[in-house]
Amino acid sequence: MDEDAIRGIHRIYIIGCGSAYHVGMAARYVFESLARLPVEVDVASEFRYRNPVLEPDSLALVISQSGETADTLAALRLCKDRGVRTVGIVNVVGSSIAREADATMYTWAGPEIAVATTKAYSTQMAVLNLLGLYFGEVMGTVDYETYTAMIRDILDLPEKLEQVLAQADRIREMAKDFAGRDDVFFIGRNLDYALSLEGSLKLKEISYIHSEAYASGELKHGTISLIEEGTPVIALSTYGPLFDKAMSNVVEVQARGARVLALTTETHREAMLARTDRVLTVPEVEPMLLPQLGVAPLQLLAYYIALER
Ligand code: F6R
Repeated sequence: MDEDAIRGIHRIYIIGCGSAYHVGMAARYVFESLARLPVEVDVASEFRYRNPVLEPDSLALVISQSGETADTLAALRLCKDRGVRTVGIVNVVGSSIAREADATMYTWAGPEIAVATTKAYSTQMAVLNLLGLYFGEVMGTVDYETYTAMIRDILDLPEKLEQVLAQADRIREMAKDFAGRDDVFFIGRNLDYALSLEGSLKLKEISYIHSEAYASGELKHGTISLIEEGTPVIALSTYGPLFDKAMSNVVEVQARGARVLALTTETHREAMLARTDRVLTVPEVEPMLLPQLGVAPLQLLAYYIALER
């Protein structure tokens, strides 16, 4: 797509299943904040059957590791039939989605061996961050400081991820605390909400513990009644601008007796330690890159809980 074609886009649809959908949920914030484009994120199995109103001056980003997921492929075909330009974000080279999309960006993650996807999430997120940043540059909606900070932090991601992984022993210790539980809640706002969806899926998928992800602000509309003495709550609060709101949700669930494990940034570590001694951190990074760092401790937590069980 040349720059004029990009400037002609007025809406973005992001479509996927499971973890790919969760990447889309996080990418929505990237495209909205950097490129100032309205974004709709859909589960492919819903999108394809709901006769969506699709505008031709829009772009569909279709995310799939395998490139063969039937619902995602059907959603892609629907977009094409309705005249919507499609871009596949795909790992498997030459797969159906890669072949049928108008354009494909490969994630080059290598063969996916485990059923519970991990590296697909990180690489899809990386592609969407780069694409969102590029769109922002073309649209003229991203300022120079943010642009250079994003590039710098993308280049620094491997090193920052090493710092996150250095907490593996602590995560393993914390996992012991959660392994005997039947229900776990993940809560977060904004990017942390998108991240909580993936953390929750990983946990239930490999440990067989029931878990739910909630947008923190929704808790008070009913679900809070399930939080009782000892209920494990994994509170994600990496997104700095909403840290105070996240903290108030921690206080809210603790008032009902929840055992809180928090994931926050190093900057907010001390503040969070005042509420709970179970705190994991990610280094400071441009906010849109937070899910790429934040997903790793959640994947490890799910893994260690599964081993404990
Ligand atoms: C979760 C997981 C699934 C896939 C989903 C989509 O760990 O692996 O949720 O993300 O089935 O698969 P792809 O990306 O191949 O379309």
